[in-house]
Amino acid sequence: SAPRVVAVDGPAAAGKGTLARRLAAELGLPYLDTGLLYRAVGRRVLDRGGDPRDATTAAAEARALTAADLERKDLRTPEADMASSAVAVIPEVRAALLDWQRDFGRRHGAVMDGRDIGTVIFPDAPAKLFVTASPAARAKRRWLELQGKGVTRDLAEVEAEMAARDAQDAQRATAPMKPAPDAVVLDTTDLDAAAAFAAALDLVRARM
Ligand code: C5P
Repeated sequence: SAPRVVAVDGPAAAGKGTLARRLAAELGLPYLDTGLLYRAVGRRVLDRGGDPRDATTAAAEARALTAADLERKDLRTPEADMASSAVAVIPEVRAALLDWQRDFGRRHGAVMDGRDIGTVIFPDAPAKLFVTASPAARAKRRWLELQGKGVTRDLAEVEAEMAARDAQDAQRATAPMKPAPDAVVLDTTDLDAAAAFAAALDLVRARM
């Protein structure tokens, strides 16, 4: 039978995380931020002075990943952004993280956010959202989020880094970021978090 999984995919800073967390709380399902897995692998490679684009190194770190790695406080820095996207290109890295993600979702159901949940990890998920927003709106959100953490960045620089990461995520050969054929695309450019949540909940209730 199909797992009780809600797939929430889409580009950086589209509002996936906030939305997925709220859906999980509402539905009483566990939440998994799958981006953290790639971030933690990238971090492990950087710690060892390695190159995140090197398949052998990155795959070894993916296989050695522990739960403690996911608790690290330095997973959301700009260098972790780029390292995560670089290791995520490597098929052996994705393969090493696949069973863990499937086991998590199958155990009790889950709301999972990422890039390939609806296309690769759970193609049979009953409810799939592809959450997006204009590049300018997403850059502004990420910029504000950084401001909130006391990090002042140039808005144009944030937008350029985000565009580079999205391009790499969308153009890679293995599990590229794209909406599943049966995903509903939710554009949050002109929606606040409450409106996005209401729209998403309607969809999920209709499907599961
Ligand atoms: O979602 P987040 O921005 O934290 O993800 C960091 C990076 O991890 C993404 O840019 C992408 O390269 C990779 N990723 C992925 N597949 C997922 C989740 C994240 O390739 N399911």
